[in-house]
Amino acid sequence: MTRTPPDRDGDLEGGVREGHPNRELWDPRPRGLRAAIRHRWQNVGMVLFNSIGTFIPSHFIRQGMLRLWGASIGRDSSILRGTTVLGISNLVIGNNTTIGFRCVLDARRSVVIGDNVVIASDVHLIGGGHDINSPEFAAWSVPVRIEDYVWLAVRSTVVAAKIGRGAVVAACALVLEDVPALAVVGGVPAKRLSTRDGNALQYSVNYRPFLQ
Ligand SMILES: CC(C)(COP(=O)(O)OP(=O)(O)OC[C@H]1O[C@@H](n2cnc3c(N)ncnc32)[C@H](O)[C@@H]1OP(=O)(O)O)[C@@H](O)C(=O)NCCC(=O)NCCS
Repeated sequence: MTRTPPDRDGDLEGGVREGHPNRELWDPRPRGLRAAIRHRWQNVGMVLFNSIGTFIPSHFIRQGMLRLWGASIGRDSSILRGTTVLGISNLVIGNNTTIGFRCVLDARRSVVIGDNVVIASDVHLIGGGHDINSPEFAAWSVPVRIEDYVWLAVRSTVVAAKIGRGAVVAACALVLEDVPALAVVGGVPAKRLSTRDGNALQYSVNYRPFLQ
């Protein structure tokens, strides 16, 4: 999986959080006219997609709207109805990947999802948070990366982590750290339950149900 999201103009304030070296302080306010116009356009896209587009029973229309606002979506992938996307232009989805109903993809920093990934319904991918001890309630962010053949089971939540190739996140798990390839993790916070057989990673997901 080599895809990367497009660079954003001046959104990162720089610096890292002590104790969390990969957390970048994040200021989402646009700087400069070009960034301000782009920010407004993105907001229009988010409002239209999340309040109307995501509920239209057509893969063509839903994915068309996401692509219009800058998402990269590969071939034979699907995003089922009711999924919310924040930061549409920073969303990258590979081929033969399926994302279930009512998921939340917070790509304001970036969400990159590989090929043959299955994301079940009501899964949340969250790319950041706040420093609870900062007098400014400072925001931080980390890119979220879901590699090929990952299965994120129903109602799981991934906060600012990378999920390695072929890993499985069990139902209702809360992932707060990177998950290695082929690991099966579950619980709150998620811990390793077992290891998946790497020979299983040969299938093509290709799930695009009519009108869903
Ligand atoms: C993760 C999962 C695939 C594991 O299935 P499995 O390999 O058959 O594992 P088992 O049911 O034999 O359970 C193995 C261990 O993991 C634990 N476990 C299973 N699911 C768990 C979960 N969601 N959270 C925490 N622990 C879990 C079991 O209690 C068991 O623990 P033990 O060894 O101490 O008894 C499955 O439990 C799961 O979460 N499925 C999700 C279904 C789903 O989302 N469907 C939507 C369709 S896309």
